[in-house]
Amino acid sequence: MSNSSGKKLVVITGASSGIGLALVKALLEEGYAVLGIANDFEKARLDHPGFSSRSINLADLDALPERMSSLLDEITMPVKAVINNAGIGRMGFLEQLSVKDIRLVMDTNITSQIIVTKAFLPLLKKQGEGDILFMGSEAALKGARQGSIYCASKFAVRGFSQALRDECGKSGVRVTLINPGAVRTPFFEKLQFEPELAAENAIEPEDIASTVSMVLAARPGTVFDEITLSPRNQVWKKKDA
Ligand SMILES: NC(=O)c1ccc[n+]([C@@H]2O[C@H](COP(=O)([O-])OP(=O)(O)OC[C@H]3O[C@@H](n4cnc5c(N)ncnc54)[C@H](OP(=O)(O)O)[C@@H]3O)[C@@H](O)[C@H]2O)c1
Repeated sequence: MSNSSGKKLVVITGASSGIGLALVKALLEEGYAVLGIANDFEKARLDHPGFSSRSINLADLDALPERMSSLLDEITMPVKAVINNAGIGRMGFLEQLSVKDIRLVMDTNITSQIIVTKAFLPLLKKQGEGDILFMGSEAALKGARQGSIYCASKFAVRGFSQALRDECGKSGVRVTLINPGAVRTPFFEKLQFEPELAAENAIEPEDIASTVSMVLAARPGTVFDEITLSPRNQVWKKKDA
């Protein structure tokens, strides 16, 4: 990730699927270099000179600081943004969730994002500019049944991003939280429900990409604190058992 092109780099977690993959494509199209992080890029092979990827299990918290440190050593170009997008859902009444699932959701959805952000923050502050984005959720704003752990993780992301924005204001680093309602992605493949099929029943990943582009393009003195997006008519359907 060297800077012979004069491009700026955007780092995106969860870049192999859904929202993250849409962000990768849109930001490459806009001329950014993109570094994607996910477990596995087999399902999303992108042949683009501006794209590089790293397979990192973000939920392996013990190894993550060292992985981030090595990654930062490789980066010699200015970093425009770090987009903390990777996340998982484990839904159900609390008694139905295993401790393993609870830890996996919290490790992936909040603690790994804190570690990734902590790793990149000194570089962004040194640059005197840069954006840190978090993919929150409507679940960051309102608790709902069978979503206790997912909501807890996303409320935590919201609190973290608010505090970090306050900490970073003087440094030139901007912090933005994006809270989508249902987005039509593979996120629902492991869940027992999904959005209904009509176009107005779910947001498309490309809608989130347009929103991120707007955030990155904002005048440096202005920050989008939080953006909430909803499908015009959010309707869920249960999958057949
Ligand atoms: N879809 C929705 O309705 C919706 C609504 C609001 C918010 N969100 C949030 O949006 C974000 C993206 O979700 P999505 O809908 O795009 O889901 P998705 O299609 O399932 O994509 C999730 C991404 O996160 C990565 N990921 C998950 N666990 C990881 C780990 N331990 N290490 C590294 N990468 C990991 C996945 O990589 P691998 O496949 O390689 O594991 C994948 O690239 C999540 O934070 C989600 O909570 C989604």
